[in-house]
Amino acid sequence: MERRMLCVDERRGMFKRRRPTTGNPELRGKRIPSRPIVPLLVTALVIVFLGYRIAIGQETLDSFKFSRDAQQGKLVTPVPLNLKDKNPDLVYLGSYLVNVQGGCNSCHTCPTYKGPDPYVTGSAAPINATNYLAGGTPFPGRGVPFRGPTLTAPNLTPDSSGLPGGLTYDDFKDGMQSGHVSSKPGHVLKVMPWPQFRNLYENDLAAIYQYLSAIPPAQPGNCTGNDQSGN
Ligand code: HEC
Repeated sequence: MERRMLCVDERRGMFKRRRPTTGNPELRGKRIPSRPIVPLLVTALVIVFLGYRIAIGQETLDSFKFSRDAQQGKLVTPVPLNLKDKNPDLVYLGSYLVNVQGGCNSCHTCPTYKGPDPYVTGSAAPINATNYLAGGTPFPGRGVPFRGPTLTAPNLTPDSSGLPGGLTYDDFKDGMQSGHVSSKPGHVLKVMPWPQFRNLYENDLAAIYQYLSAIPPAQPGNCTGNDQSGN
């Protein structure tokens, strides 16, 4: 490899910011215009400042929260999921909202738990995957006058055409936001906490719907009273 020695003039040129006295005769010894240090520094500061704003800003927080929730949703789903034609991240986010936050299992899975009743033992119990979200939990005294004295939580699993609980997305959204579904004209959903769910973001509603479309079809188990355990 060729090593090039700097001549004295070249070195002086470097330190004094003048061009070397050798080379192009027109430029020889002329001052080199000073480097644009100040504008460079200002640009760098602006970039650091904007980067900091983005790092602590809503945008990054949202995507961080989204991926964190979706990751947890993937871990906690008690049933295998059919991801065909679905956005997996949205399905996993739906799992998080259904299994961790929405408490949908406690009413729509009958019985909710397998094994020792967590409300007796005070420790976690596995979700009943066989009848997962297939409804059937009775709410005595809450069905009047719509379905007789006992209201039963409906099945939310996909029907033969793949629609969760037989609901189109619009119907599902109406149920979650206003307590109305087209299959129960004139009825306002009881027990179902739609007055709280109505404030979910549209994106979260879509995620729940995608998740409910991805769970296996199932039939209700046997629940007596409001027992939440299979024992
Ligand atoms: C406290 C019990 C409870 C919880 C928690 C609950 N539901 Fe419900 N849900 C019900 C009952 C009971 C009905 C039927 C109400 C009626 O017909 O008056 C119902 C109805 C529905 C309906 C309308 C379907 C239909 O055909 O009537 C949908 C959709 C639904 N629930 C979804 C959910 C989702 C999703 C969650 C969790 C995010 C959830 N529910 C949490 C009790 C509950």
